Amino acid sequence: MLIRTAKKSDIAIINKLDRESIKYHKKFDKDFHTVSENFWKIKKRSHKKAINNPTNLILVAELNGEVVGYIWGYIKKIMKYKIGKIQELVVTSKQRKKGIGTKLINNMLRFFKGKKCIISEIDVFVGNLPTVEVYEKAGFIKRYHMMQIKLDKQKRFKPFS
Ligand SMILES: CC(C)(COP(=O)(O)OP(=O)(O)OC[C@H]1O[C@@H](n2cnc3c(N)ncnc32)[C@H](O)[C@@H]1OP(=O)(O)O)[C@@H](O)C(=O)NCCC(=O)NCCS
Repeated sequence: MLIRTAKKSDIAIINKLDRESIKYHKKFDKDFHTVSENFWKIKKRSHKKAINNPTNLILVAELNGEVVGYIWGYIKKIMKYKIGKIQELVVTSKQRKKGIGTKLINNMLRFFKGKKCIISEIDVFVGNLPTVEVYEKAGFIKRYHMMQIKLDKQKRFKPFS
């Protein structure tokens, strides 16, 4: 298995992986994870920008010449501190539980360390317990709960639709 930096020509397969991840996330929040074709266009543009941005890194996992997973991270700053944020992580369902996700995470953490980040963080949906386990096994710990209340009960929250 090969972990390498993503190229522009990988964007189509990355988009396929993202669609797979959204399908999976619908189990946790159907409304939030309703995604329009327009949003996918915007996301593809973001991937293209990330590939060309030195504070971002997209890595793909290749198995027998086929991309089977990817991770996207970027560096943000809080005051003087650099934080490595993991934005996306997906491994195609047939290749899960073989250590590919962990390899992608560890490679991303190496990149963050090289860029002098003091911590790395990731947002995971409360219901996505398998992913919490993957990150905990990679050394992450739960620091806080992000809590929400719906103030407009009539409206659905579908930011990407
Ligand atoms: C999260 C994800 C990328 C993990 O990829 P993966 O390649 O299956 O992860 P790994 O094989 O490296 O698993 C790491 C550890 O977690 C465990 N693990 C993985 N999936 C698990 C599951 N569903 N239930 C319990 N444990 C699990 C593995 O057994 C492994 O433990 P081990 O080191 O003791 O063997 C993958 O499950 C995925 O794409 N999920 C859907 C998208 C998603 O939710 N992404 C995260 C968004 S925050």
